[in-house]
Amino acid sequence: MNAQSLLLQAADLRVNYGAFEVIRGVSLSVGDGEALAIIGPNGAGKTTLFKALTGEVNCRSGNVNFAGKDVTSMPAHERTIEGMGRTFQVSRVFLELTALENVVVALESRRRSRGEHTGAWWHTAPPPDLLAEAVGLLDQLGIASLRGETAATLSHGDKKRLELALALALEPKILMLDEPTAGMAPADRMRIVEVILRIRREKGVAVVMTEHDMDVIFSLADSVMVMNYGEVIAAGSVEEVRNDPTVREVYLGKDMYHAAG
Ligand SMILES: Nc1ncnc2c1ncn2[C@@H]1O[C@H](COP(=O)(O)OP(=O)(O)O)[C@@H](O)[C@H]1O
Ligand SMILES: [Mg+2]
Repeated sequence: MNAQSLLLQAADLRVNYGAFEVIRGVSLSVGDGEALAIIGPNGAGKTTLFKALTGEVNCRSGNVNFAGKDVTSMPAHERTIEGMGRTFQVSRVFLELTALENVVVALESRRRSRGEHTGAWWHTAPPPDLLAEAVGLLDQLGIASLRGETAATLSHGDKKRLELALALALEPKILMLDEPTAGMAPADRMRIVEVILRIRREKGVAVVMTEHDMDVIFSLADSVMVMNYGEVIAAGSVEEVRNDPTVREVYLGKDMYHAAG
């Protein structure tokens, strides 16, 4: 990979919660269109690393570069505008709005951030092109038929799909997915995997995800990084990491297919 194709780079990140050092000097890089999976036991620091990359927690030291800019001190919402799309381990859709309204809000926010028209005032109907784009996104995620349902009433899997639609509404360069299949039935997991694969194929979006399910990782990731106690203990291709003796030790010799998390 040459220097031009690097999209996201973090160097020697350190994050503390009080006196407790949760991220202890983590570096990583993700190329354009590449998919990196971050795995490791619960409490290893995966979500905190995510927050450091997206700007939700401050780093004590280190820096983050994204799309050619030093974003280390850039707040989360500005990183989103720069093209960092994300979902959360705990969903953040507007529960009282319908699926369609949620996507409309996200699209309006993208257009506003780019100085494009968003239609008139909030109580008037959104413009037809915006509505069509919103329905198109829901359709891509296979939930167009649920457009009129209040988000609160959606199943867990459909809520996750809606969240992905919201992230995609911002046309990100990278999708940051913290446990995209958490709490899902296997069939739902594979549907999410298919959606993410399709998005990668069609839009060339890079992906950084944390994930417990090794089948998901095998299907989606180009490379894997293993964390333990806030440090990277192995990184490489899926195969390299699976055969790494240190990784096997952390997972107590368990079958890696079932041991992550
Ligand atoms: N807001 C917080 N305040 C204090 N400690 C936290 C906070 N969030 C997480 N931690 C601690 O930081 C460590 C890493 O947590 P986390 O990043 O959530 O790990 P993972 O996502 O790998 O399970 C854990 O020991 C956790 O208890
Ligand atoms: Mg986590």
